[in-house]
Amino acid sequence: MRIAVVCLGNICRSPMADVVLRQRFQEAGLDVEVVSAGTAGYHIGSPMDSRAAATLTAAGYDPSRHESKQFDRAWFDDCDLVLAMDDDNFAALARAAGPHRDKLRMFRDYDPMGKGEVPDPYYGDGDGFREVLEMVERTAEAIVHDLQAAMR
Ligand code: 4NP
Repeated sequence: MRIAVVCLGNICRSPMADVVLRQRFQEAGLDVEVVSAGTAGYHIGSPMDSRAAATLTAAGYDPSRHESKQFDRAWFDDCDLVLAMDDDNFAALARAAGPHRDKLRMFRDYDPMGKGEVPDPYYGDGDGFREVLEMVERTAEAIVHDLQAAMR
């Protein structure tokens, strides 16, 4: 099983979700591969945003292996689930999905605290990154439980 998480630049939100989901799946002993990408290609090859990395490090995660990638529509063939961080990402992915539209969901469709967007923290202050991490952690946990139940 393979899951893609997708935001705009692949340096803030989806890399944070990527790192947290990977760790949760590993802890749960589930064989799920996690990949992440941006709908835009502004930051291809770049590491994570330093504020995103610092927020992850402070919470005990390792952000060091990230390298920004742009989403390619061929990923819809290779992934079982493609999770969009916000409505713009979702719209761009929906245009690329073709026959794989059923694989596309909003990341926060799994959020036990309520559906919606993961707000873009790039232009805000550091608090936005802590808010993203909170959303990502509780949503990642719900995704793991959901897949655990489905794979049982
Ligand atoms: P992300 O955040 O989509 O969560 O990675 C952004 C990163 C870069 C830009 C916008 C959002 N940008 O405009 O360069």
